Amino acid sequence: MYYETAEKLLEFIRKSPTAFHAVDTMKTTLTGHGFQELSEKERWNLSPGGNYMVTRNNSALIAFSIPEKAPYSFHIMASHSDSPTFKIKENPEITVENAYVKLNVEKYGGMLMSPWFDRPLSVAGRVVVRENGELKEKLVDIDRNLLMIPSLAIHMNREVNSGYAYNPQKDLLPLYGTAGTKEPFGKLIAEAAGTSEENVLSHDLFLYNRVQGTVWGAEREFVSAGRLDDLQCAFASLEGFLSGNKKESITVHCVLDNEEVGSGTRQGAASTFLKDTLLRINSGLGRTYEEYLMCLADSFMISADNAHALHPNYTDQSDLVNHPVLNGGIVIKYNANQKYCTDAVSAAVFKEICTKADVPYQTFVNRSDMAGGSTLGNISNTQVPVSTVDIGLPQLAMHSPYETAGVMDTYSLVKAAELFFA
Ligand code: CO
Repeated sequence: MYYETAEKLLEFIRKSPTAFHAVDTMKTTLTGHGFQELSEKERWNLSPGGNYMVTRNNSALIAFSIPEKAPYSFHIMASHSDSPTFKIKENPEITVENAYVKLNVEKYGGMLMSPWFDRPLSVAGRVVVRENGELKEKLVDIDRNLLMIPSLAIHMNREVNSGYAYNPQKDLLPLYGTAGTKEPFGKLIAEAAGTSEENVLSHDLFLYNRVQGTVWGAEREFVSAGRLDDLQCAFASLEGFLSGNKKESITVHCVLDNEEVGSGTRQGAASTFLKDTLLRINSGLGRTYEEYLMCLADSFMISADNAHALHPNYTDQSDLVNHPVLNGGIVIKYNANQKYCTDAVSAAVFKEICTKADVPYQTFVNRSDMAGGSTLGNISNTQVPVSTVDIGLPQLAMHSPYETAGVMDTYSLVKAAELFFA
């Protein structure tokens, strides 16, 4: 069962090289389960027993199920669709010494840069095209090995192994082709979008790692892939959401974008996307604003974003006691300064969920002399104030284009989510 879940996760990641693709992949699955897509531009006619989904910017998605009978409260699980990567700039082609063409890119989020070198990469995202006088968004994925960022040979920088400060504008530009290539980048993208170059008006395109996800280790106990942060949680949330029986509350599977760049966009955790959706669910059921507030006060959110596991070579980087390990179960994250929302109440509720679901949990707290990362829970709470626990799955190499996690942990989160959505 662990392996089945791990293989399913890898398939989900393979189909989701960008946030746009992740949303598209989830939409396809939800449609297959009878979910009806709503538009933010239209009036919502909701009925008890209904299953719905709505997207914003095609890079964030909220799916929800309404039970047959009130009283209502919201059971929300939130994760994010984006990962650190490089974005293709405007006018990306740069010709080098009349020999090569490389692409101009800029950083999206805070990534580890060195693992981007010397591995096959490609490009995916969305383009906006002119079609019969209208503007249309199209997903593109150049589904082949297309780019490489070659390292500088050791002979040309003997000191590199003593530490090197990467400059994204100089060191990280991927090699695309030979100067004068018959396949200019714009043409390739236009073909992938099924149109001609002059009809492609604009793009949001990103690099992604072509190295496929894999299960490995002495007993095949580890799983590695790109974008585990946070597609591992988004996947587990969706699986639990679809298999939970959803009879006692309005269940909400929420995947937001732009967590890696601070969440401050209209489709991020700081936006009103979740709040607007919950308000529209409430009014769509003919309920008052006071009833919405009553409902919120009785609601619960799981903010699910991956956590740092104890590193085999850097044990000194973890808290003395609260250092989660791969395959040790779901990580409950604590932070006194409330970068994580977890408090005694929400932690207790979540521990009970894990116990009932019969899955292990463990705890993460940063070293007291180290500033940790942040996530979407506390940002989202300023818009939608509900009791929230911050959790995640333990992983190594966070923000590398190839991250590592435990095979058993995804399954644990699916089971916990299933119980939460029951
Ligand atoms: Co994350």
